[in-house]
Amino acid sequence: MRVTVYSTKSFERPFLAEAAARLNLEPVFVEFPLEPSTVSLARGSEAICAFVNDDLSAPVLHLLAELGVRNIALRCAGFNSVHLETARELNFSIARVPAYSPEAVAEHAFALLLTLSRKTHRAYNRVREMNFSLNGLVGFNLHRRTVGVVGCGKIGLAFCRIAAGFGMKVLAYDPFPPKDSPWEFVSLERIWAEADIISLHCPLTPDTHHLVNQATLEGMKPGVVLLNTSRGAVIDTPAAIEALQSHKIGALGLDVYEEESGLFFRDLSGSLPTDETFARLLTFPNVLITGHQAFLTTEALEAIAETTAQNLAAFRDGNPIEANRVA
Ligand code: NAI
Repeated sequence: MRVTVYSTKSFERPFLAEAAARLNLEPVFVEFPLEPSTVSLARGSEAICAFVNDDLSAPVLHLLAELGVRNIALRCAGFNSVHLETARELNFSIARVPAYSPEAVAEHAFALLLTLSRKTHRAYNRVREMNFSLNGLVGFNLHRRTVGVVGCGKIGLAFCRIAAGFGMKVLAYDPFPPKDSPWEFVSLERIWAEADIISLHCPLTPDTHHLVNQATLEGMKPGVVLLNTSRGAVIDTPAAIEALQSHKIGALGLDVYEEESGLFFRDLSGSLPTDETFARLLTFPNVLITGHQAFLTTEALEAIAETTAQNLAAFRDGNPIEANRVA
């Protein structure tokens, strides 16, 4: 089966090539993202493979269908980029990688937290300039702090386990709490009111879009540390900027950003900033942003490549893996 693999990055290509070869797939790697102007690169392929910010809107799905593409393998967990109604209407078979390494993402959320709580991002720069002053570097202990975990699926639960290891009090929220979980599940209002640190691990849905907004921020503790490794649009960014200005938010750790699709995964180091909101975020010393790299470990890349190749081979063999199906 010939597969056009969009948005291929050099760091993942060896893993994808190896897994594809083992399952007799014919990958055609392209670096371009999937968008209306690049759909034609899928000509001659029965399947495409897309990454997290690729465009799978209704118009793109129509164009892919016209080229005879039938199968889509997402090499990510979230599928909010897919226009599901159109995908079903056009009879696409779409699969994702539901779990590759929840620990990779949970550990990255903790990396953001530890950096912000001990200001190591600032210390790193100072020491490189032989500035050993400690002024402005006072941090806080995580031990005995209350952490609110919003969304307790695979990643949220991994985050809870790490937090407990640090001696933190864990409060969890999930509309469908997992059975037999040792964590204390409470209402969202209690999370907002009691948590010193809030980590978001829910998917982006109509219910979670701008879940953190001006009103919910008002219900949070002054100086709350907010972490988002889920999807950018779970936070209303202008509301977060206002809360940073008023010191309601004490620190903000982001691996995702609402408008990331024009920015992340590209080297824009020579360009002027075009996104004023993003540029404003970068001015705060207590904001730490990484460019959607929470998944980026060797273990996760291996698992993503393996499951993606298995999903494609299963489509080819007419035996889709139901647990991974999106449509
Ligand atoms: P999962 O499906 O195992 O867990 C999601 C949990 O969120 C479920 O328990 C679900 O009941 C809960 N949930 C659903 N609606 C909710 C709501 N309104 N409020 C609170 N919780 C709600 O997914 P997993 O693997 O834990 O991933 C979570 C999210 O993390 C993904 O949807 C994706 O957006 C993001 N992600 C980010 C990555 C990164 O590199 N930054 C990598 C992988 C995933």
